[in-house]
Amino acid sequence: MKEVQEYLNNNKERFLEELLDFLRIPSVSADPAFNHDVAKTAEFVKDKLIAAGAENVEVCPTKGHPIVYGDKIIDPSLPTVLVYGHYDVQPPDPLDLWESGPFEPVIKKTETHPQGAIYARGACDDKGQAYMHIKAFEGMLATQNLPCNIKFMIEGEEEVGSYHLGDFCRANKERLACDVILVSDTSIIANDVPSITTGLRGLSYIEVEVTGANRDLHSGVYGGAVANPINVLSKMIASLHDENNHITIPGFYDDVEVVSKEERTAMNEAPFNLNHYKKDLDIDDIHGEKGFTTVERTSIRPTLDCNGIWGGYIGEGAKTVLPSKAFAKISMRLVPHQNSDKITALFQKHFESIAPDSVRVVVKPHHGGEAAVTPTNTPEYLAAHKAMEATFGKAPIPARSGGSIPIVALFEEVLEVKTVLMGFGLDSDAIHSPNERFGLFNYYKGIETIPYFYKYYAELKK
Ligand code: BES
Ligand code: MN
Ligand code: MN
Repeated sequence: MKEVQEYLNNNKERFLEELLDFLRIPSVSADPAFNHDVAKTAEFVKDKLIAAGAENVEVCPTKGHPIVYGDKIIDPSLPTVLVYGHYDVQPPDPLDLWESGPFEPVIKKTETHPQGAIYARGACDDKGQAYMHIKAFEGMLATQNLPCNIKFMIEGEEEVGSYHLGDFCRANKERLACDVILVSDTSIIANDVPSITTGLRGLSYIEVEVTGANRDLHSGVYGGAVANPINVLSKMIASLHDENNHITIPGFYDDVEVVSKEERTAMNEAPFNLNHYKKDLDIDDIHGEKGFTTVERTSIRPTLDCNGIWGGYIGEGAKTVLPSKAFAKISMRLVPHQNSDKITALFQKHFESIAPDSVRVVVKPHHGGEAAVTPTNTPEYLAAHKAMEATFGKAPIPARSGGSIPIVALFEEVLEVKTVLMGFGLDSDAIHSPNERFGLFNYYKGIETIPYFYKYYAELKK
């Protein structure tokens, strides 16, 4: 292990320069205007895998963005680790809120990151975290310290729902065969409070369209007599929560996993400072489902949020108009045992049923995904635990996250393999927001920790 760590330490500067180059390519998967850059990013990943010593490296086309595969099989009798990550990023907008260009990475010191952080879209989610694995692999191979077989699958459609990954996994079951999937696409509680993610929420994403009259109308001539779809839609959305912030869709909670008292007590013992939380977000009070703490609300409880709402006149000045249409994007975060298709159907039925006769409603389902929980008594969890303990000098805490990585449930279903979620970002790293960042401490800590995972995993599997 000493040799690997020396190698990694001696190459720190280059590892950073390479990541900055990776971040300069705007791999926005949601916007077709960036398709060429997404393809270029896949080639970048391929080149870096080859340079690190991977074999069978291939940019595998899909009907959407390509998946990059590579492996190094040193001995078929050793355990095989499949590393999953994504090279695509969220759109950078709103651009004017960035302090520096989203694809012009800069390093700045902050209160949370006194050693400096890399500011760029994808720095934390997930280019920076995926790249840690390529560099740790390079170090293990270069110093002949790779104790497992390794396979890489780095995709380009995570941020748009991993639409083609399921088919790819089904068609490549042999090629992807492995003992465990290792993912760094989640966070730790704080740089001095290491944690391992043991749960992810599912997702159901929906778009709704509400239509009133067949055209925009003069709001003086018709206003008061014809339904305003924006008013109606706002009221419909507001009615989806009751006074206790419970979701009002009939059947919504039917399948929700009941978490034991013990687990709830344990999760509330993890360090959490409500004042820091409020101060960081500039809010005077928090908000959420009655009967649950903030930690519970963002992990073991399902939610419903309007992600966007539009319609009518939003240009300069005033225009007195009674719009014909209003739209909203609504998502629900789901917890174990809730099924995203079932929830989508319940939403659709309910939303249509609450629409007054004065409007027409169209409900369009988008992507969805299932929640996942990972056990803490497996060799892979223990290996991650020991690895983090070795490099942070502190035992990591198991913690469920509120985010979603739908492919984790898919891997379990298609590849029949469990995942270990060993992420190194912080929840405050502004992923999906302007000024996304990834601490240098976190980047290097990840690179340092990963070889320990392989070491302990190989030992525990013996
Ligand atoms: N890496 C995130 C998920 C995440 C973030 C998990 C923080 C835990 C902590 C992932 O890239 C993501 O953004 N997922 C989407 C879902 C996807 C279907 C678009 C999400 O959670 O909104
Ligand atoms: Mn991610
Ligand atoms: Mn993301």
